[in-house]
Amino acid sequence: MTQATVHRFDDAAGVAQAAAERLRDAAREAVAERGRFVFVLAGGRTPVPLYDLLTRPPFRDEIPWDQTIFLFGDERCVPPDHAESNYKRALDALLAPLGVTDKQVFRIECELKPLEAAARYQLQVRELFTTELLPRFDCVLLGIGADGHTASLFPGTDALDEPRRWVAPNHVPQLDAWRVTLTTTALAGARRVIFLATGRDKARAVAEAFGGVDHPTPLPAERIRPEDGRVEVLVDAEAGSALP
Ligand code: 6PG
Repeated sequence: MTQATVHRFDDAAGVAQAAAERLRDAAREAVAERGRFVFVLAGGRTPVPLYDLLTRPPFRDEIPWDQTIFLFGDERCVPPDHAESNYKRALDALLAPLGVTDKQVFRIECELKPLEAAARYQLQVRELFTTELLPRFDCVLLGIGADGHTASLFPGTDALDEPRRWVAPNHVPQLDAWRVTLTTTALAGARRVIFLATGRDKARAVAEAFGGVDHPTPLPAERIRPEDGRVEVLVDAEAGSALP
C-alpha cells in the first residue's frame, strides 16, 4: 500500500509553488514517455492559487499544455455555468486563461441526472485508457475536507465503497446534495496523487489521514492509495499544525 509523503510549507503560496513544480515535472515526464499528460483537476477553493500560478510564467511556458488532457475528480450536480461548479471554477481560473481547446477538456456533464452523468464520464475515461485495467492518470490533484472527504467521496456515502465503477453518482446526506465522483477504484490507478490542504480547519483531517494520529475509522482521503503510484500531501503551516 503506497504511503503518503507529507511536505509542509509556510503558507498557501508555498503550497501552490511546490505543487506547480511537481506538475511541471509530471507533465514533462508523461509527454516524453507517452505523448500526453492526463491531469485530473481538484474541485473546491484550495487549488485556485495553484491554477492562477499555472497560468503565469514560468509555468505557463514550461508545461506542455497542448499535450495535456484535463479531467475532473468530481463535480457538483449543478449546471456548468453555476458558481458552485468545479468545471466553472477551473474554466475561469485555469482553462480559459491557458486557452486550451474544448477537445482537451473532459467535463462531467452534471446538468444530466447523476447516474447518466457518471455513466457518460465513465465511458469517456475508459476511452482514454482502453488497454489498462485501471485509469493510469498521470497526476491527480485532490483536496481534503475537514471531515476527511476527498473528491466527492464523503464518509459513510455509497460511492466510497464502489468496488468496480471508475465514476459513480453519490448522494451526500451531509450536504443534502448529489455529486458525481471518481471512485477509490479509479484513483487507485493514478501514477501520482497530490493532495493540497491549507487552513486550520483541515489540520485534524490531515493529521488523521496522513499523520498517523489515531481515529476510529479510516477517512476517505487515506483510502486513496494507488497500486503503483506516488502520493504526496502538500500542506501549509496551519493545515499541518496537528501533525506529530
Ligand atoms: C469539491 C471537492 C472537494 C474539495 C474539498 C476541499 O467538489 O468540493 O472536490 O473534495 O477538494 O471539499 O474543498 P476546499 O478546497 O474548498 O476547502
